[in-house]
Amino acid sequence: VSLKNFNTFGIDANARYFAEINHADELTELFADPLWQQMPRLVLGGGSNMLMVADFDGLVIRLNIRGIEHRISHDDVFVEAGAGEIWNGLVNYAVDHGYAGMENLSLIPGSVGASPIQNIGAYGVELKDVFESCRAFEIATSEIKTFSKEDCKFGYRESVFKGELAGQYIIVSVKFKLSLTPHFNLKYGAIEQELAARGITEPTLKDVSQVVSHIRVSKLPDPSTIGNAGSFFKNPVITIAEFEPIKQNFPDVVNYPAGDGLVKLAAGWLIEQCGWKGKVVGNTGTWKNQALVLVNHGGATGQEVYSFSSQIIDTVYAKFGVTLQREVNIIS
Ligand code: EPU
Repeated sequence: VSLKNFNTFGIDANARYFAEINHADELTELFADPLWQQMPRLVLGGGSNMLMVADFDGLVIRLNIRGIEHRISHDDVFVEAGAGEIWNGLVNYAVDHGYAGMENLSLIPGSVGASPIQNIGAYGVELKDVFESCRAFEIATSEIKTFSKEDCKFGYRESVFKGELAGQYIIVSVKFKLSLTPHFNLKYGAIEQELAARGITEPTLKDVSQVVSHIRVSKLPDPSTIGNAGSFFKNPVITIAEFEPIKQNFPDVVNYPAGDGLVKLAAGWLIEQCGWKGKVVGNTGTWKNQALVLVNHGGATGQEVYSFSSQIIDTVYAKFGVTLQREVNIIS
């Protein structure tokens, strides 16, 4: 089965077996057969955070569990969505109903079920800020277990599902805690500027969602026309001791305090300084408006994109002494 239409990078790689799951019960049926228990597997939501560097010799499970329910309790709104719901569809649902908290996460590609795995985030808000709990199918026992926010051990683009429990659970639904009263997070410079440019002083949820969407569209390539998986690398977090010499040599280095004597650098800035921004290399390259995003200009193989990313890692290391880590999942 070709996965070309199931990954936003648009890489033409194949899966040996493919199963589509529309209901959590179907996971129980599937894993009742020991053949599938033992086989390497890859769970796909929107396929928006992965790079396939080879064909997948195993079972690809595409999650298509749908449904959105909500319950209002005083000022809180609990919204539970199936793992297969499209993330931005859920954000639009919340914004349209006046449920606040997700508006800064507008237009992030991918599915609801994938959102906790890497604690998606943008414009000063992370998934964990609106996360209440999730339900996940345990492959070894076929039981569904509920994970609280603490259980998930969220970090920057990290969770227990990427770490110690990787490959053991399949998230089937996520519950969010939203609010009837907006508490806007507008500190991000580009949001403030765009609201001001539109003459908006008292924004609504819809205003914020539209402004965020506008910023994303202007900076990031649309995966339906240019294959990509958003930020390819994480923004590196280093110690102040490591940061000092960089700051001396490159006074303009973009950086943010990251707590506990740590500093976060903007990987996009580091990559741009190495001359990669907007460069086309074969069928791949970096995006012209955001060097942190690697793209498929058409016909790129996963291996080609991967080799290019290694070249970026090497040059950034040579110039700054900082090792970039890939944020997308590499499937080999
Ligand atoms: N920058 C450059 N050159 C570039 C790109 C960025 O100099 O080519 C500079 C910008 O000028 C800015 C800084 O780097 O000073 C940060 O750039 P930006 O605001 O675009 O955000 P980012 O740090 O590159 C992160 C997330 C994005 C998220 C944005 C907005 C990661 C790995 N990426 O990018 O998330 O949308 O912030 O909050 O944390 C994703 O994870 O896939 C993703 C797109």
